[in-house]
Order: sequence, then structure tokens, then C-alpha cells
Amino acid sequence: MEAKLAVIRGDGIGPDIVEQALLVLKKIEEKFGHTFHCQDVLAGGCAIDAVGHCLPQETIDVCKAADAVLLGAVGGWKWDTLPGDQRPERALLGLRKELGLFANLRPAMIFEALADASPLKAEILAGGLDLLVVRELTGGIYFGERGTRDTPMGPAAYDVEQYAEGEVRRIAKVAFDMAMKRNKHVTSVDKANVLDSSRLWRRVVSEVAKDYPDVTLDHLYVDNAAMQLVRNPRQFDVLVTSNIFGDILSDEASQITGSIGMLPSASLAQGNFGMYEPIHGSAPDIAGQDKANPTATILSVAMMLRYTFGLGAEADAIEDAVKKVLAKGLRTPDLFTGEGTLVGTAEMGRQIAAAI
Ligand code: IPM
Ligand code: MG
Repeated sequence: MEAKLAVIRGDGIGPDIVEQALLVLKKIEEKFGHTFHCQDVLAGGCAIDAVGHCLPQETIDVCKAADAVLLGAVGGWKWDTLPGDQRPERALLGLRKELGLFANLRPAMIFEALADASPLKAEILAGGLDLLVVRELTGGIYFGERGTRDTPMGPAAYDVEQYAEGEVRRIAKVAFDMAMKRNKHVTSVDKANVLDSSRLWRRVVSEVAKDYPDVTLDHLYVDNAAMQLVRNPRQFDVLVTSNIFGDILSDEASQITGSIGMLPSASLAQGNFGMYEPIHGSAPDIAGQDKANPTATILSVAMMLRYTFGLGAEADAIEDAVKKVLAKGLRTPDLFTGEGTLVGTAEMGRQIAAAI
């Protein structure tokens, strides 16, 4: 197959890890006979420095013309003092909205070789962990009406949480479709004991469930879900939730694995278009030092091959290569506990590519 990729290396360790992901992609191209035409574009702090804006129009145009976007990470201390609407992170929100990326898939899984990394007791995780957070990504309080007004308590700022039935329906469908390919269990997370927007959410998710008689649906309030995630994370298969609850719960879920340098994500639009990125941040303290773990970005390439391009065997090949390299004992600094072989970013990428 032949396809177009927009590549956003971004800030901090972004360029380090994307380099390795592209190396792995090159190996896939050679081995399976595909061609990916990659075009680099700027977003985040590096775009602010280069052209004065975190998300240049050219970047949006190139991404829209591509079949998928691969992103490293954006942000860093250097831009932390800019006003909220000019920070590098705005680029992410802009990309999500402009590209219609309403469905954010954030898997949290434990690799057998890294089972000890979890901060939870071994008995809680006996048998492993493999759950998927499906986060709504272009609605809710992140994109609702906002403003300021005077109140008797002084000037106030507000952000509105609003969900339309159509927005809930389409994210619910993604969650149920995912569950059909997994363990057929969806947990919808809301705050329906308090919020009207959550009551609508719960009603619509329950309606969508009728089209998936093979999938079991539960509902949890978000506070309970946060608790259950550490109490017994193995009860979950697919968690579906709003933008802000998903932001919070996906961080919690990733921390349970103890190795956020390993976790990829996908942000999908209607159709096959998607943006793929590691769940971790830009780690400016180790940028350019060959210390970052490129695996999450490499696994994001696997998600891209699977979800945008329907290349399941190629995606499996990358995931298997990662497992092989971990089994061989290779560890980047974030994973190294004294056993195995300590390797840098480039060597980790090279080894994973070689294992394909
Ligand atoms: C994430 C991040 C972003 C979000 C920030 C950087 C805007 O926390 O992708 O989870 O809140 O969505
Ligand atoms: Mg977040």
C-alpha cells in the first residue's frame, strides 16, 4: 500500500522518539512492501519559536491532506509562562478539533516482562491487565462555551460541559465496536447523580447498547470508577467516558501499569483518519540525551497500521517485536531496575526494528 503521513515531531523528546518510530516504520515498509510518504510539519513550542503560532495553518492543511498523523510530544518549560491560549498544548486541542478526532483510544496494558513496574500489589494484577479507555475528545467542557462574568462573590470564570446526543452516540459506538473485538464489556463512566449532561450521556449509551446484545454494559459514577481502577482494575475491558473524565481516568489507568513510556494512543475521526501519539509528555529534562523510551511511539505506529490502514499483521509484527526485545532484557532508563541491559533511545529503536 501507498499512503501519506504527516509527522509532527514536536518538542522535548518528541524528535528523539519519532526518529525511532520512523525507523521501525521503514522496516515495516521493507518487509511488507508498503510506502509511506512522510511530511514533517510543526506544532507546539517549536512552531511558536519558528513562526509565532503553536498550530500553523500549513500544519492543519498538511494533516488534512494526509491519511494519518504521527505525533511525538508538545510543550515544555520554555513556553510555560505564555498565556493559556498561546501555550503549545493548544496545538493539540486545535488538531483534535480541526481534524475531527472525536474518539481517543488509550489502552493501558501491562507487558509481562514489566509486571513488577506497577505500583499496585502483585495480587491485584495477577493475570495481567489490558483495558482500553475510550475518551470523547472534541466535546464537553474542553470545547464548551466559556467566559467571565461578575458575581456577588467577585469576577467569575466559567466553562460549560455540554454533550449532544449525536456526540455521545458516535463515541458509544466506537466503544462498543472496540468491545466486540475484545472482551465484550463496556463500562460507561459519568456523574449522572449530579449532572444533566451525564444523564443524557447515560441514556444515549444505553440506547446504543441495544444494538450490541453481545456486549455487557455497566455504568459507574466517575468517583467510583477512579476508586475501582486502583481497587480492581482487572474488572474493566472498555471504559467509555467524556473528555474531561477521560483525561483524568486515562492518566490513572496508565499509572497503574507503571510504565507510561510503553503506552500508545490513537485519536480517530469518522472514517479511517487518525492521529497517533504516545500518552506521555515531552520530558524536556531528558530531550536529546538518548534517554527517552521510544516504545510508546513505536506502538503508536502499530495502532496507526491497525486502525487507519487495516494492516493487522504489520501491527502485530511491531507489537511482537516489542515483546521480544523486552524479553531479551533490554531496558531504557525509565524501565531499568538494575537487571537486564540498559540501552538508550536509539538502541531500543534499532533493536525493535531488527526484531521485526
Ligand atoms: C492529554 C493532555 C491534554 C488534554 C492537554 C495537554 C491539553 O493532558 O492529552 O491527556 O487535557 O487533553
Ligand atoms: Mg491528560
